[in-house]
Amino acid sequence: PELTILDDGDAVTSEAARMIAAVIADTPGAVLGLATGRTPLAVYARLREDAAAGKLSFEGVRSFNLDEYLGLPPEHPASYHSYMRREFFDHVDLRAGDWHLPDGMADDPAAAGGRYEVAIRQAGGIDLQLLGIGENGHIGFNEPGAPFDSRTRKVALAASTIAANASEFPDGQTPPSHALTMGIATILEARRIVLLATGSKKAKALDAMLSGTIDPAVPASALRLHPAVTILCDKEAASCLQ
Ligand code: F6R
Repeated sequence: PELTILDDGDAVTSEAARMIAAVIADTPGAVLGLATGRTPLAVYARLREDAAAGKLSFEGVRSFNLDEYLGLPPEHPASYHSYMRREFFDHVDLRAGDWHLPDGMADDPAAAGGRYEVAIRQAGGIDLQLLGIGENGHIGFNEPGAPFDSRTRKVALAASTIAANASEFPDGQTPPSHALTMGIATILEARRIVLLATGSKKAKALDAMLSGTIDPAVPASALRLHPAVTILCDKEAASCLQ
């Protein structure tokens, strides 16, 4: 992977937004793979601002999110549907019907996973996949042990992932234990991948991803098998790199 260590989170945001704008400018009908979580919040804010200022249009762009909680209706405030509408989709000219997330209410998650894979393929595949990284090295909700040949499917969330995201849920509500996520193989099919890592909490995961063996125990290490991965990180996230 190409590792870019930047001064701070603001610089990571600027560079990520620049790369997304570039793929949109270069690729008619660009297909974006999108992530949720805290790390890309500032990127969505920047893209909203640039769109409002008329510097960027998402007309004709298609998007596929990495993951969604199972058992949450799309309108639940902690669902990734709600997150994406609130942070991004409702503020830009991406057409309804051109953005996609896995169906967290699917009766048959295996069938829904298969349909998601087909939809990505029919869109021509993902031009640029945005990723965050979990403290345990997960990408999407592919927790340690996820096979590198995995596809969009139902997964159990690690206890540490549930704890890390518990604050998104209203008091007293138990976060879901399962999710639908793109698999490692799905992610590796993207033509280009941009992984964002900011803050000291991500330092160990970034080091394990880059310096350890390529092994399902560290899902993000699979990205070393891909020819076009850029890691944008701040100094804190880079602080454990050997
Ligand atoms: C989000 C996702 C996750 C997050 C990761 C980091 O769609 O798939 O892999 O990218 O859990 O989350 P934050 O950015 O909240 O630290």
